[in-house]
Amino acid sequence: MIKGIIFDLDGVICSTDVYHFEAWKQTMKKLGVNIDQNTMDKLRGVGRVEGFKMMLNDAKITLSEQEIIKYCDEKNELYKNLLNKMSYSDVSDENRAALYKLKEKGIRLAIGSSSKNARLVLEKIGLRDFFDAVSDGNDLKAAKPDPEVFLKAADMIELPPAECFVVEDAESGIDAAKNGGFTAIGISAAAKYERTDYPINSLSEIIGILEKTGTETKI
Ligand code: G6P
Ligand code: MG
Repeated sequence: MIKGIIFDLDGVICSTDVYHFEAWKQTMKKLGVNIDQNTMDKLRGVGRVEGFKMMLNDAKITLSEQEIIKYCDEKNELYKNLLNKMSYSDVSDENRAALYKLKEKGIRLAIGSSSKNARLVLEKIGLRDFFDAVSDGNDLKAAKPDPEVFLKAADMIELPPAECFVVEDAESGIDAAKNGGFTAIGISAAAKYERTDYPINSLSEIIGILEKTGTETKI
């Protein structure tokens, strides 16, 4: 019986990829490295420092931990400035309507994101107070594919993983969901991933999946 849904944020509720890309492009340029969309695809769902280390590794650049933190902080300042461009209209009408419909059905809704900026993004898109819980990249000990971020979210909405869907756009996020014992719904790149239980093109399709699998809701 599904009673809760945990949503990844970037790439699921809204698209921040373009801003991450721009901020990383400017940061990596300082190190003489040009990055492309392929690099960005690899960073999807990966934490800030882990992602930077992956790019350094690919470029065969060694930096001290102190320098790594400095570059990551610089990238984050650029990224936060770019987030000022985001607004309510960054969530499609269809996705917003689906979220409200799920809430009306009495499903508990949470965010499970690796981003330390999740609350800032939610504020920009007008969903700061919408979710019952927000589990984000702050205070996380292990990054996806470790299930920690989703297990914390499930704990916050007081449900066991077996009673929650996780909605993800990254393969590492689907792995995290499956490793934690959740049912995984995949969108975008994750829709094609072999470990995904239900592929979707739009959040509105979740309502149909819930009806198929059965829920204990108000309706
Ligand atoms: C999400 C994005 C990643 C990003 C990560 C950390 O998972 O998909 O591309 O690196 O969050 O985001 P942050 O806002 O903490 O730098
Ligand atoms: Mg994502």
